[in-house]
Amino acid sequence: MDMRATLDGAVIMAPMTRGGNLPYRRLCSELGATITMGEMALSRKLLRGHRPEFALLKRAPDERCFAVQLAGNNAEEMAEAARLAVSRGADFVDVNCGCPIEDMTRRGLGAALLQKPKRIAAIVDAMVKAIAPVPVTVKIRLGWNEDDRNYLVVAKAAVDSGASAITVHGRTRAARYRRAADWEAVGEVVQAVSVPVIGNGDILFPHEIAAFKARSGCTAVMIARGALIKPWIFREATDGYIDFDAPARLQLLERYVTLGREHFGTDERGERRLRGFLVWHCGFWCRYVPRHADGTYPVMQEREEHFEPRNELEVLLSRDDAAAHEWLCDLLLKGADAAGPAPALPTAEAANSRSDMAEG
Ligand SMILES: Cc1cc2nc3c(=O)[nH]c(=O)nc-3n(C[C@H](O)[C@H](O)[C@H](O)COP(=O)(O)O)c2cc1C
Repeated sequence: MDMRATLDGAVIMAPMTRGGNLPYRRLCSELGATITMGEMALSRKLLRGHRPEFALLKRAPDERCFAVQLAGNNAEEMAEAARLAVSRGADFVDVNCGCPIEDMTRRGLGAALLQKPKRIAAIVDAMVKAIAPVPVTVKIRLGWNEDDRNYLVVAKAAVDSGASAITVHGRTRAARYRRAADWEAVGEVVQAVSVPVIGNGDILFPHEIAAFKARSGCTAVMIARGALIKPWIFREATDGYIDFDAPARLQLLERYVTLGREHFGTDERGERRLRGFLVWHCGFWCRYVPRHADGTYPVMQEREEHFEPRNELEVLLSRDDAAAHEWLCDLLLKGADAAGPAPALPTAEAANSRSDMAEG
């Protein structure tokens, strides 16, 4: 595969644990995502034959270009896992060097690899040899923390070992989501390596896709939280800004339920699993806020407190309390009669206890 041709101008759905579930990837594909990435799979679990991990390699027939993302720190294991991914239909395989979660980094996985560029080189080298001509890509952050922003060293090590593209999430591991993504740093990587660079971080609206590309010169962009909050960002990438009103959003959620039932099944277990995903997705969907009346745009780092929903349905869709999410799930899974009347607004105490957004 010619990665430069594949990536040129692409708007990629990011790898997201939980968020990148197969029915949600299909929804994003239907809305225009041309490249989708699966949820991170652990190479060691794959080699041990762990069934749930194999499910993460599954590609939907309507995914036009599908990548599997692997996490691991052992070159031979990663090479073997890459072979498994390709045997199950991956168009390319990505190495996770960015996951900040403590449970991963203390085992030397994800972002912990940023501190070991030689290890990254060995992993990429082994994977390239194992699956060539299928491309291997690497997803990195800017470094472990602000004192160790070694992204140029890491990116060059990966490319010198045969990586066909580098995704740069413009933050360090320590920054998590607290500061804005550094798009200039992504531009430095573009200048430093000979392969296409995919820019990632803080894209929620189509003008931000253009701004990111202009500022960094990256070949493609990748979107994570934006895709969870407003999956039609992929349509906006070609058609320009769209405000999906509340009934249109409800229709998208209904479509997700249909795709979810096709994947999880319609028996009790399938419905339970789908409901679990629906409730989880509600935590992102409720954050949608349209462009402000004065033409400015909301940002993603904080929840917009001044948004005035335009009708009753929008009030409900924008609520982030558990009662509203359960009600919405009932509405979607069982129909209006079973959902009953909309739940009362939560007390101030309940509203304050809402959970933080998940993080990858
Ligand atoms: C729910 C969630 C799960 C994530 N899981 C992964 C993952 O498995 N692998 C990965 O490389 N990044 C993961 N990420 C990080 C994103 O791919 C992306 O790099 C980051 O969110 C910045 O992009 P954004 O500003 O568009 O959200 C995850 C992010 C979120 C919100």
